[in-house]
Amino acid sequence: MDKETFFKKLDRIPDLPTLPVVAFKVNKMLQDVDVSIRKLSEAIEKDQAMVSKILKLVNSAFYGFRSKINTISHAITILGFNTVRNAIVSIAVVDAFSGKDAFEAFDITEFWKHSVAVAVTGRHMAEKTRLGTPDEAFVAGILHDVGKLVLAQYFKELFGQVWTSIQDEGLSFYEAEKKLLPADHAQVGGRLVKKWQLPASLVEAITYHHAVKKSATNFNLLVLVHASDHIVNNYKTGSSEGLELSGLFPEAARIMAAELKALPEWFPAVETEIENACEFFIEDGG
Ligand SMILES: [Fe+2]
Ligand SMILES: [Fe+2]
Repeated sequence: MDKETFFKKLDRIPDLPTLPVVAFKVNKMLQDVDVSIRKLSEAIEKDQAMVSKILKLVNSAFYGFRSKINTISHAITILGFNTVRNAIVSIAVVDAFSGKDAFEAFDITEFWKHSVAVAVTGRHMAEKTRLGTPDEAFVAGILHDVGKLVLAQYFKELFGQVWTSIQDEGLSFYEAEKKLLPADHAQVGGRLVKKWQLPASLVEAITYHHAVKKSATNFNLLVLVHASDHIVNNYKTGSSEGLELSGLFPEAARIMAAELKALPEWFPAVETEIENACEFFIEDGG
């Protein structure tokens, strides 16, 4: 199958997850600079399940506010429009893919654990390096590998071939799919997120997270995702060796040098935060 046929097939899948209506609407409304807190709250309140999840999230240890947030408008006032949008998108994406059959060897819980780990690490890196907005880095992390889910759920046979070649030839997931698929999971994920009409900066951060592109709309967000993925996949807390830098885009390594060097100091606390976030997004939220 060539790339074009593959993408055509992808676009025609009738039950490909859509972003739940409320997330889609909120995203649209936020493209209007004049949107009011009241209007946005009303839109969110149409989905009561979403309301309770958002309130649970913003009141969780993960956000760490001391006073209780009881309403959506209060949440927006305290957290801001974009943070609430990113929280909704993160919750919605985990929901959109749950309860579907995937290629049997694919462990969906492990998949989300990885995504949440990259999200939390990205948020921390964004804060420390000031390269991006922390919650934008978070949502990009949650979404970065979503193409793998699409492949595992909708292209089971192709995914199976990738799986076999990982086992038999000892290839990495990315190497195997490069070899066997018309498009890799990063491109597939980017395509989906574009269809959902999420911002171009997010679409590109997903599409290029393995093949960093200097000319991306928001290069900093892209390298935050790329580097966080690399850290989560390669850094072992407590090991005497530092982070393996091969495979990391050289410019990312350069602009984040200080934080990468200081990993042993900050990563253990981030690991605790990852556990908290997993509890929310996977065991409970998903
Ligand atoms: Fe990936
Ligand atoms: Fe990843």
